[in-house]
Amino acid sequence: MGTPKELRILYENIDLPGMYTLEVYQQHGGYKSLEKLFEIEPDALIEMVKESGLRGRGGAGFSTGLKWSFVPKDVEPKYLCANADESEPGTFSNRYILQQKPHMLIEGIIIACWALGIHTAYVYVRGEFTLGKKRLDAAIAEAYQAGLLGKNIRGTGFDLDVYTHPGAGAYICGEETGLIESLEGKRGQPRNKPPFPAVQGLFMKPTVVQNVETLSNLPFIVQNGVEWYKNLGTIYKDTPRGVDPMNTGTKLYCVSGHVERPGVYEVEMGLTVRELIEMAGGVRGGRQVKAVIPGGSSAPVLTPYELDVPCDFTCLQMNKTMLGSGGVIVMDETVNTVEALLNLMEFYAHESCGQCTPCRNGTPWVRDITRRIFEGRGKPGDVDHLIEVANMIADVDAFTWNTICVFGIAVAWPAVSFARKFRPEFEAHIREGRPVVLPVEEAVTPPEENYAWPQTIPEAVRRPTWDY
Ligand SMILES: Cc1cc2nc3c(=O)[nH]c(=O)nc-3n(C[C@H](O)[C@H](O)[C@H](O)COP(=O)(O)O)c2cc1C
Ligand code: SF4
Repeated sequence: MGTPKELRILYENIDLPGMYTLEVYQQHGGYKSLEKLFEIEPDALIEMVKESGLRGRGGAGFSTGLKWSFVPKDVEPKYLCANADESEPGTFSNRYILQQKPHMLIEGIIIACWALGIHTAYVYVRGEFTLGKKRLDAAIAEAYQAGLLGKNIRGTGFDLDVYTHPGAGAYICGEETGLIESLEGKRGQPRNKPPFPAVQGLFMKPTVVQNVETLSNLPFIVQNGVEWYKNLGTIYKDTPRGVDPMNTGTKLYCVSGHVERPGVYEVEMGLTVRELIEMAGGVRGGRQVKAVIPGGSSAPVLTPYELDVPCDFTCLQMNKTMLGSGGVIVMDETVNTVEALLNLMEFYAHESCGQCTPCRNGTPWVRDITRRIFEGRGKPGDVDHLIEVANMIADVDAFTWNTICVFGIAVAWPAVSFARKFRPEFEAHIREGRPVVLPVEEAVTPPEENYAWPQTIPEAVRRPTWDY
């Protein structure tokens, strides 16, 4: 099969000068999908997207077409919210689309709105993305001028308005109902579900919230067809009940941390963690890998024993972690895993919105136990205590949470996985009463005691070929 190669589809020509303008975007095939779009019946388009296997790139990996099929047809108005909050640590691919190819997002928004009969769309942009928002606003203005947005688009009778809305820098405003509350002008505090936004969302009307990368896939599906799309990525046979076998398309993997060439790599879904690290130039200075977070900071950490797991929705789920936002954070042998967890827990304790007691009180509690272990003030039994408190926020093995939103599980997953998988290093801090960085072989819990072991990789119907 040879060495895996990048396959740029969304990121094709992304670095061309002026790619953020309508002129350059159209010179390179931009808005071509609209030539076909208005000939496709909305219901047929929903079926196409379902059939393509496209799954949400924002974290949950839910089937996009299936979500669209839940939207009631007879309720007006309906809304689309493009989620450009991108605040998951380790994730930075949406930001570059806003800055360099904002028209691709607009094209995707037009497609989603046509399919769903939506006439108003909002793009919720993370407040810190000032350049991205400026370029997106300019692109929206160009699209209105060119008759691609506004009234009677291309003489079809279809109207669509798009507005941007800056966030104020809260991680929880990336959660879809927190985003909706914030868009309504309230504090960004998640809502209880059900009802799900597809039925009752913005201003209590049916609302589809969709990630920037997810929407950016749509022009290519419309233009090239479902079969073309399904020929990219990995599809598995015989997955257990409840595990979706579809991993079609490419994925924008954000590889960061201790690799030689950190950055966004667009490849067919299904590369292993090891292959992704190689693609990013390997671990810096030829050092050993100690830990890898495969899907943004909320995803359970992987040990060096787990690097041959394909980085796709199905396999990572079956190996008790997740693809999440595609933020692959690589840590080499110099890393103190207790300090790494402390860093994450400081973040989560700061970002809890405070509505639910287990999250509001439990997250700082987990942080404080981690801190005292790191600082050498840990007591015997603290590692179990840490795991117990985290599991009270969300039970990671049962995959249940005692909170309104899944922020609770986003806290418990890294906490429990770090403490279980790097227990020897945590215990060494307590024993020695000071920060200790153990060699990799000694720091990791033996694989047979590892809760994600043995690895499960189902048989595939199709895998990436690199034959291009
Ligand atoms: C705490 C938290 C933060 C989230 N942050 C983001 C985010 O920044 N961007 C995003 O697209 N989805 C984020 N999500 C996922 C959204 O709730 C939602 O599932 C997603 O935007 C749906 O779009 P998709 O189906 O295209 O992925 C977050 C979820 C949680 C629980
Ligand atoms: S789990 Fe945390 S972030 Fe989510 S609603 Fe409850 S307190 Fe807020």
